[in-house]
Amino acid sequence: MFERLEPVVPDPILGLMAQFRADPDPRKVDLGIGVYRDERGDTPVLASVRKAEAALLARQTTKAYIGPAGSAAFNRALEQLVLGAAHPALSAGRVRSVQTPGGCGALRLGAELIRTACPDAVVHVSTPTWANHAPLLSGSGLRLERYPYFDPASGGVQFAAMTAALERLPARTVVLLHASCHNPTGADLSQAQWLELLALVKRRQLLPFIDMAYQGLGEGLDADAFAPRLFCAELPEVLCAVSCSKNFGLYRERTGALHLVSESAAAADAASSQLVRIARTMWSMPPDHGAAVVQTILEDESLRRQWLDEVDGMRRRIQDLRHEVVRQLKTHCPERDFAFIGRQRGMFSFFGISAAQVRALRERHHVYMTDDSRMNIAGLRHENLEYFARAVAQVLAGQQGR
Ligand code: LMR
Repeated sequence: MFERLEPVVPDPILGLMAQFRADPDPRKVDLGIGVYRDERGDTPVLASVRKAEAALLARQTTKAYIGPAGSAAFNRALEQLVLGAAHPALSAGRVRSVQTPGGCGALRLGAELIRTACPDAVVHVSTPTWANHAPLLSGSGLRLERYPYFDPASGGVQFAAMTAALERLPARTVVLLHASCHNPTGADLSQAQWLELLALVKRRQLLPFIDMAYQGLGEGLDADAFAPRLFCAELPEVLCAVSCSKNFGLYRERTGALHLVSESAAAADAASSQLVRIARTMWSMPPDHGAAVVQTILEDESLRRQWLDEVDGMRRRIQDLRHEVVRQLKTHCPERDFAFIGRQRGMFSFFGISAAQVRALRERHHVYMTDDSRMNIAGLRHENLEYFARAVAQVLAGQQGR
């Protein structure tokens, strides 16, 4: 049976991760996979996570199953982190949550729910969007379409084109939106634009499916949650997929949740029972450890404070690197304007060079970014910023490196 299978081209992000690991050059720079790195190039376990893990180890008495919806206490803690403790949808009993294996699990679970509710539903994603959105969402059988989003000329959002496209969509169309730190471009909507989009979504009766994978790494925990808080307060139905990979540094623990807002508590209960059924058919129950860590941190005053400081530290480092890399590029590539990198948010920027130039950076200078020129800013270090900028200058000038 399996002899007939064709080999699959590796996922562009994971394929690059393998190439980087195999490169023995000590100067190599990993701007590929979206993991936060510190000034030494490490992705350390957060100190708050280490303490929570120690506390868990001491107090956990069983590994017995919890259930397909995961831990109710984790789900509640995450709802409050995402929406804010006093959110009106929470007080109205309109929110239900299911713990998932990472944000990917939440996205797929949401897609399966949409397919159950409305098999012909179409999901519209931004152009461009995260490489795994299309396989994750269309894997459920939903049809995927695209709306204009990134404006390469300004490094910002083509908001007029985006809204003109969404304005034409029929009611019950699903629109996938990035809450903040847009992956792969780093170009986010302003609060005024979110408000305008909300009016459009209401008028056209669209279903927003919000992907929130970077809360805290853009402008701050509250500012980055502006869109989900607004949409969940103002709309009858919203789906929000949340990942704890980046802001808690729990990548391999696969920790996330799907929050669902329905028009009434009764509708929320019915939808939630479907989510539980679907989760049971896909992974039965989510992994526990990461969620238990997050819950421990969020429920403990002092661990929570320590974690907030750590998230602030990550965000500040990324913002500082953004400004520094713009400065270095200005010095070494004065003929090109890279100021947009300083205006973007989160880990990623679309660098705006050709696939051939990306390849040259990789092959001649050991600088790794995906072929579409997405770069993970957090992969830079102050000590290699100049090396990076010089490498870019040589590639842009079409010269051979050392
Ligand atoms: C990324 O975009 O690089 C991360 O979200 C990691 C992944 O799974 O692709």
